[in-house]
Amino acid sequence: MTADAELLARRQAALAPGYQLFYDDPVHLVRGSGVWVEDAEGARLLDCYNNVPSVGHGHPRVVSALTTQAQRLNTHTRYLHETVVDLAERLGALLPGDLGVCFFVCTGTEANDLAVEIARVVTGRQGVVVSEHSYHGNSALVRLLSTDGYPAADRPPWLGVVEPPNTYRGPIRGADAGAPYADLVRVELERMAAREHAPAAWLVDTSWDSNGVLIAPDDYVERSARTVRGAGGLVIADEVQAGYCRLGVNFWGHENYRLVPDIVTLGKPMGAGHPVGAVVTTPAIAAAFAEQRSYFNTFGGNPVSAAVALAVLDVIEDEALLAHCADVGDHLGGGLLRLAERHDVIGNVQGSGLFWGLDLVTDRTTRDPIAYADARRLVTDCRQGGVLVGLTGRYSNVLKIRPPLVFERAHADHLLGVLDAALASFEPRGGGVGRTPGAEW
Ligand SMILES: Cc1ncc(COP(=O)(O)O)c(C=O)c1O
Repeated sequence: MTADAELLARRQAALAPGYQLFYDDPVHLVRGSGVWVEDAEGARLLDCYNNVPSVGHGHPRVVSALTTQAQRLNTHTRYLHETVVDLAERLGALLPGDLGVCFFVCTGTEANDLAVEIARVVTGRQGVVVSEHSYHGNSALVRLLSTDGYPAADRPPWLGVVEPPNTYRGPIRGADAGAPYADLVRVELERMAAREHAPAAWLVDTSWDSNGVLIAPDDYVERSARTVRGAGGLVIADEVQAGYCRLGVNFWGHENYRLVPDIVTLGKPMGAGHPVGAVVTTPAIAAAFAEQRSYFNTFGGNPVSAAVALAVLDVIEDEALLAHCADVGDHLGGGLLRLAERHDVIGNVQGSGLFWGLDLVTDRTTRDPIAYADARRLVTDCRQGGVLVGLTGRYSNVLKIRPPLVFERAHADHLLGVLDAALASFEPRGGGVGRTPGAEW
């Protein structure tokens, strides 16, 4: 038995079976630096998948902030400490409108759970609208808002589900699709009313990651937000994926659509690998919530996490990562479009900045998605070529590219070369479309 096979057997015995691994032959990573990770045999892989190490694996300034604060003190938010206040002020300064009052948590799930709780308490309603095939986390509440993970028949009556604005593959296509997609929100609110529920919130990820990384028609978000607010609901922007410069246009995804949300939720990239998340809202909403509820989270906002989150913001600012992401993103996007000219399997190139999806099809006219098994094989071929990418989308046929923000043009060229070779030898075998809920991609 090889060392990896032995570790796999131990893992399978000791970890719950629901913990899935990427790849049939799992990758055993032992270290990472910048955009590179190294496996147990010393092979270097270009990380084109992980947004959690947002400013790169093991960024020295983040590591230094973490170790310095861990050596000095770590407690919780029931004592006065500068770092957590500094962090709240920094986030408030980055956000539009009067979004500036923070709750700190440890994960995106916790952030969304609390945000929905706030919306419900403040509005006195229960209804929540999300996109079809959304993913927002996995607590008992948020799992129900993650419509990619369970059968539609099990949806609670307070849940409204709308088609995401997919102008390539969705039911409404083309440039003028903003108004008709937003109208689906209005229709869903009517259906919700018929089930005797009114909206507390619309929860939206403005990268629509789980739907294949979408750019919405320009007016979709504004129109939908107006509809939800007109019906008395709040707008929650889930920035776990779209935030922190990822889309290369603005710091936040919602800014791309001129939306000023009522509540913003943060997670993954905020700590560059350290578990820290946040809910940011307005003083008025926070005060209304505080009239009925208090909130405490043992680890959320502890001095070490706050120091790490501050270091991440410093790095983004000092290394000008927003402009960097826009520049490298344009370069990468141009390269992906050129690949699409040569490989018919690429039906559409969608995304921006350092977040791209290649919607892979069996036929460009019918836009039928390639089989899940074929998509997996392509991802595995990229891994053999030394590049980590993933899959997303309702049919798991969208190749997902989402590297750390410190990805350079030369890394993009390397990725494009590996992808080109993998696509050149790609031979679809067909089979089932889409993954089963809970599968690893
Ligand atoms: C858009 C979005 N929101 C929330 C979450 C949940 O975050 P976490 O895994 O930190 O709970 C995820 C995780 O993938 C996500 O993609």
